[in-house]
Amino acid sequence: MQESALKPGTRVFVGHRSELPDGTQRIVSVPGGEIGVIAHGGHLYAYRNRCAHQGGPVCEGMVIGRVMAAMTEDKKMLGEYFSESEPHLVCPWHGMEFLLESGESAVDPRFRLHRHEVVEDPDGTVHVVI
Ligand code: FES
Repeated sequence: MQESALKPGTRVFVGHRSELPDGTQRIVSVPGGEIGVIAHGGHLYAYRNRCAHQGGPVCEGMVIGRVMAAMTEDKKMLGEYFSESEPHLVCPWHGMEFLLESGESAVDPRFRLHRHEVVEDPDGTVHVVI
């Protein structure tokens, strides 16, 4: 069955919220592909597990903070550090980075991940919406 054969709005079970602590990256099979659910900073993000670059399994990549430069007031480089306020999802195939919150490429707006809505029911059950 192709994903397009699913009725829009179909919910696919992911798990219970208690099974998805920060750092979890769960891959859910759906007709026509996979969706990755990523728990980070108390939020759940879901994207099609297909990189916008060349189709790699992007949701299996690392989540790291944006690399920032630490500078003095007179612009001398002190070093680099990972931002805690802008997490990036790094595709394992070629290292393209995407903003975890939006799915946009960190460097090239032509590339964007396909985002899916995440629904958490009052009983803690989590679904993604196709
Ligand atoms: S397929 Fe993801 S960076 Fe190339």
